[in-house]
Amino acid sequence: MDLIAENDWNKKFQFTLTWRNDRIILSQKQRADVCSFTPLLDGFHIMDRLRISGGNRLQGAVTISGAKNAALPQIAAALLSPHPLELTNLPAVTDVENMLGVVTLHGAVVNRAAHGTIIDTSAIVSKETSYDTVRRMRATVLVLAPLLARFGHARVSLPGGCAIGARPVDMHIKALATLGADVAIENGLIVASAPGGLKGARVVLSSPSVGATETAMMAACAAKGETEILNAAREPEVADLAACLGAMGARIEGAGTHRILIEGSTTWQPAKHHGISDRIEAGTYAVAAAITGGQLELIHARLENLASVVQALEAMGVSVWPSDRGLVVSRDGPLKGADITTEPYPGFPTDLQAQFMALACCAEGASLIRETVFENRFMHVPELMRLGANIKLQGTTALVRGGAPLRGAQVMATDLRASVSLVLAALVSEGETIINRVYHLDRGYEQLDRKLRLCGADIERLTS
Ligand code: EPZ
Repeated sequence: MDLIAENDWNKKFQFTLTWRNDRIILSQKQRADVCSFTPLLDGFHIMDRLRISGGNRLQGAVTISGAKNAALPQIAAALLSPHPLELTNLPAVTDVENMLGVVTLHGAVVNRAAHGTIIDTSAIVSKETSYDTVRRMRATVLVLAPLLARFGHARVSLPGGCAIGARPVDMHIKALATLGADVAIENGLIVASAPGGLKGARVVLSSPSVGATETAMMAACAAKGETEILNAAREPEVADLAACLGAMGARIEGAGTHRILIEGSTTWQPAKHHGISDRIEAGTYAVAAAITGGQLELIHARLENLASVVQALEAMGVSVWPSDRGLVVSRDGPLKGADITTEPYPGFPTDLQAQFMALACCAEGASLIRETVFENRFMHVPELMRLGANIKLQGTTALVRGGAPLRGAQVMATDLRASVSLVLAALVSEGETIINRVYHLDRGYEQLDRKLRLCGADIERLTS
C-alpha cells in the first residue's frame, strides 16, 4: 500500500507499507526499510503471545475485577443525562477503553480520577457511530437508545456478526419502535428518530436478550409514562445497570426478574455507581483452581451470582465455600465428567462454556456440553484438540471424552472466552504452549497473566 506523508514545510514523501512475517515495513523507493514495527491494537501489540508451561497447581488468592458486561452499558447510560456520572470498579480491559472512546467521540469528557472514572456529558452531540467503531465492539450498539432518548435521533451502524454468531439486534430495534421511535435500516445504519419524544409502553421481548433489555431500560427512562418490560433478561449485569440508572434519578422496579417496571420522564442528577464484580472472570479462575488441582480464594466473587456454576463445579468433584472476602474453590480428588447446557441467567452462563470444556477435557469419563445461546460458540474446540483433547461436535453439542493427556502446542486465540479456555488447558498441558493473538484476552480479562503468575502459574507474556 502507498502512503503520502507531508512534513511541516509541505514537502510530500511517498512511502510503501508492506506486511512481512508479522511486521509492518515502511519503506521509501530510494531507500531500504525506513522502519519496521509491530502493529498495535488497543494499546497492546497485536502479535503479543502467551507462553505457558503446564503442571503447576495454583494456590493463593485472586482479586476479581469489576464486571466488563456491567461496565459497558453503564458507560453508554452516561449519555442519557447532562450531569456527570462517576463509575468505580471499572475493569482495566480494552472493551471498557473502547466504550469510553465511543462516548468521547460524542463529546463526553472522561476524567480518570484515582477513585473512579467521571464521565461528563454536559456538552455531547449525537454523531453517527460508524461501522468501524461498532464492528470492533458490538456492545457499541448500546449507545443507540441513550442518544435517541437524549436528542430525539441517532444513527448507529448495524454491528454485523462476530466469531460466535450472527448476533442480530432486531429485538433492540423492535423495543425502540414499541416505545414510539421510527427506526429504519439505511445503508447498514440503524437510523432512529423520535421527534416528539419516546412514550412508555409494554415491551415484550421474544427471548430474554441482555442487550435488548438494557436498550429498552435506557430508552424507557426517558420515555413519557410507564414502561413494562416482559421476558426481560435476569443477568446480574442488568440489575446493576438498573442500580446505576437509579442513582442517576431513574425509578425502576423488578430489574433481575423477567418483569421490569420503569416510571419514565426521569429527572436526571449527578451520580456515582460502584459496579459489581465480574462473575465470568470469577468462574474462569474457579476453573483454573479446579483444572490444576489447586485452591484459590476469589476475592469479591459472589455465590449468589454463580449458583449454576458452583453446582456444575461440585458435580465435577470440586469443593466451593464462601469466605469473608468472597469464595474459595478447591480440588484435591479426581475430576468427574458432567453434562452442561448453557441458558440465560440463572442457567449456566454461555460465557463459561469454553472454560468448562477445558475442565471436562481433564475429567474422568465423558461430558456432554450443549450451547443453546449462540450458534457458533465452539471456536475453541479445534484448538483444544491441537493440545490433544478428545472432542466430538454434533451441531451445538460437544461430546468431551476426558482423560486424554494434554500436550503443549502453538494455538490461536479466536474470541475472548475461547482464548481463555486455551490458557486453562495450557496450565495442565505437558510442556510449553504458545497462545497467539492474546489481544482477545485483553478485551475482557484484566492482567490475566499477572494474576495467574501470582498464584503459581508458569506463564509469561511475549511482547513482540
Ligand atoms: C451479552 O451479549 C454479553 N455481552 C455476552 O458476553 C453474553 O454472552 C450474552 O449477553 C449472553 O449472556 C455484553 O453484555 C456486552 P443477548 P448480548 O442479546 O447482549 C440473540 C462476553 O464474552 N439476539 O442476550 O449481545 C443473540 O444472537 C460476551 O463477555 C437476537 O436474536 O447477548 C443470541 O443468540 C459474549 N436478537 C441471544 O439472542 C437481538 O436483538 C442472546 O443474545 C439480540 C439478541
